Amino acid sequence: MTVLQETAPGKLNLTLDVLGKRPDGYHELEMVMISVSLYDSLTLELGTGEPWAVVCNRPDLPDGPDNLCWKAAKAYCDAAGIDPEGLRIRVDKRIPAQGGMAGGSSDAAAVLRALNRHYGRFSDEALRALGLTVGSDVPYCLFGGVALARGRGEQLTRLPDLPGELNFVLAKPDFSVSTPELFREIDEKGLTARPDTEAMVSAIERKDRNAIGASLQNAFEPLVAARYPIVDKLRRTMLGHGAVGARLTGTGSVVFGLFCSKFRAFSAALELEEICPQVHLATALPAGVFKLKR
Ligand code: C5P
Repeated sequence: MTVLQETAPGKLNLTLDVLGKRPDGYHELEMVMISVSLYDSLTLELGTGEPWAVVCNRPDLPDGPDNLCWKAAKAYCDAAGIDPEGLRIRVDKRIPAQGGMAGGSSDAAAVLRALNRHYGRFSDEALRALGLTVGSDVPYCLFGGVALARGRGEQLTRLPDLPGELNFVLAKPDFSVSTPELFREIDEKGLTARPDTEAMVSAIERKDRNAIGASLQNAFEPLVAARYPIVDKLRRTMLGHGAVGARLTGTGSVVFGLFCSKFRAFSAALELEEICPQVHLATALPAGVFKLKR
């Protein structure tokens, strides 16, 4: 039996813009994404001689063919013409589920990375194309680090790493939203908030932490905040503790704040814990983080 281990970091959207609906039903997006130090850990056992299984420390997540890890492994084995003769995937989750942090997509990407490290059948580009068949965020999760994503999220351009001394506080309130439903709402109502993506890219290139904070924007946030007042409450608490910016990530429900001071991030986290069930501290990861593991 072969045992493979892999790390799956969460992502945050520094910006998220919806440019329009495409003929294939998906939406044309423009997003600045980062990987953060809140991560899931995966263990793959190949050649178990038993039926495939996914085991997770969160019993509410699907443990069969509906799990994105399973789908990713199936897509890889089918495309490569491989039968691992039994596969067991253990997922230790830390990334909040239903949070807009691409937790499931990052787990799927980790499965593809681990299998490709072992079998070595695909180039990075081919692996990202395979990832797109599993989910729109999977190519980014394979790419990792700071990136500008366009198209469904698969057209990726590398951006410079964030300044090291940025601290993130992540708060996951007790609600989740349906992503397809929010896209439908945007189709009907249009957008009320749009990021200035160029300003964000320029702020990152200049390593200007205040400008990065000021340029955080998410086209979905007004819709989600209108339905769930806790979103603005979490943002106000973060800003009150000196965050240089605070936003929803993806379609939520995680709200994150960006702090230049670790002390302020910590004091914000302590207050947030009183109004929010899950609060985490994190930092941004550098682009080479997956290569470092080898
Ligand atoms: O690709 P994925 O399965 O992650 O997407 C989930 C849903 O989000 C899609 O079914 C679609 O409704 C919506 N979506 C979209 N445009 C994108 C990405 C996702 O409309 N670029």
